[in-house]
Amino acid sequence: MLKRTEWRYFNELVVKSEVISFASAAPSFEVISKYFGVLRNENVELLEEIGPAIFNYADIKGDESLRRELASKGLVGENANKDMVLITNGGQEAIKLITETMLKKGDRVMIERLGYVGLEQTILSSGGEIRCFSDNLNKLKLSEIEQELRKSKPKLVYLIPDFSNPCGDNLREDVRKLMVKLATKLSFWVIEDQTYREIYFDKNEHLASMFSRSDKVIIVGSISKIIVPGLRIGWLVTKDDLLRQKITQLKESFTLSTNNLSQKLIARLLETEYEKMIRWVRNYYGKKMKKTLENLEKNIPERFSFSKPRGGFYIWIEGPEGFQAKKTLNLALGNGIGFMPGGVFYYNNKKANTFRLSISAIKEKDIKDGIDRLTKTLEGKKLLIKKNIGWKGKIKEFILNLHHRLQLMFVR
Ligand SMILES: Cc1ncc(COP(=O)(O)O)c(C=O)c1O
Repeated sequence: MLKRTEWRYFNELVVKSEVISFASAAPSFEVISKYFGVLRNENVELLEEIGPAIFNYADIKGDESLRRELASKGLVGENANKDMVLITNGGQEAIKLITETMLKKGDRVMIERLGYVGLEQTILSSGGEIRCFSDNLNKLKLSEIEQELRKSKPKLVYLIPDFSNPCGDNLREDVRKLMVKLATKLSFWVIEDQTYREIYFDKNEHLASMFSRSDKVIIVGSISKIIVPGLRIGWLVTKDDLLRQKITQLKESFTLSTNNLSQKLIARLLETEYEKMIRWVRNYYGKKMKKTLENLEKNIPERFSFSKPRGGFYIWIEGPEGFQAKKTLNLALGNGIGFMPGGVFYYNNKKANTFRLSISAIKEKDIKDGIDRLTKTLEGKKLLIKKNIGWKGKIKEFILNLHHRLQLMFVR
């Protein structure tokens, strides 16, 4: 089964079950609602100011004011300027444009063992072959990383160095340095996916990006997790003019341009409200992450270990040998809580005893209850759903439970 399909299946299962959800990768609806008023007001002003021209095609490279604002807010990499930026329909289009432009049939792309589910099909449908490091890079020695790169001879290496999806960790500084060095020496390109880079909690403790140290690194970025996903604004950044021209040409044949109104709206928001809003966003997610980690620390059974991210949305949990996250999800849904089984994030050698919690969608007030329900599920005791659902509700719940069980029988 394709990873994306499996991921979507579990996502829909959790949504349909109407439980407390630690599964979603979408930004919190509370954040979208917070931005809503500002975006609505900016939108009205823009329509009046610009008039009908706002509904014309945009510049293929992307709206100039947006590229300028992104550069001035440091969102497109240190030392980057607006001319290095191509605006895309979300980060996903940026990744696809890169693989489609750069890969010939059979070219290899190296990825970490655990990674973003949207990647696999993107690479394969561009004719690329996937090679996977034997583990996530933070767990490997530098000599092992170099050896695996020499053996696989990739054209591209894809990495999420900051608050990664799905583990929430940061790529070690020595690995960043090595990647930059080897990119030139072994002649490969690095895609540095910075989708979560701006969601740090305490202070700006960023490690320098690989982009700032090498011409062989292409940044992929997006407003999806820091502002809103529905306006579909993302970007790619490269210092290589020829490469950018080729990618731009390809974009023309794909989509002609990115939505003009969305671009102008985000440019305006970046200019007027961004600093204030992003501080709020960091604080909002930071509080939820802190509370979730505190509750996990207090309650989770001893044989489960978990990552302690300092940014982003995701906590990675590993259970004892023999623990089956997919099967446990069924029990968890019955107990009123959902998560994402870890198997969907592995390229190969899946570990069935892992799962991902996302703090993005959950409301702060539900965190304690959610972790209590998770704990009881992991301890193997069934929690009664608190709300009084009556006999009709009980029948509905019974049917839903039966349905989950039947469906799970067909999931590998
Ligand atoms: C690491 C990573 N990159 C890229 C994307 C694509 O996001 P979008 O196309 O909404 O910018 C996602 C979405 O979840 C992601 O997690």
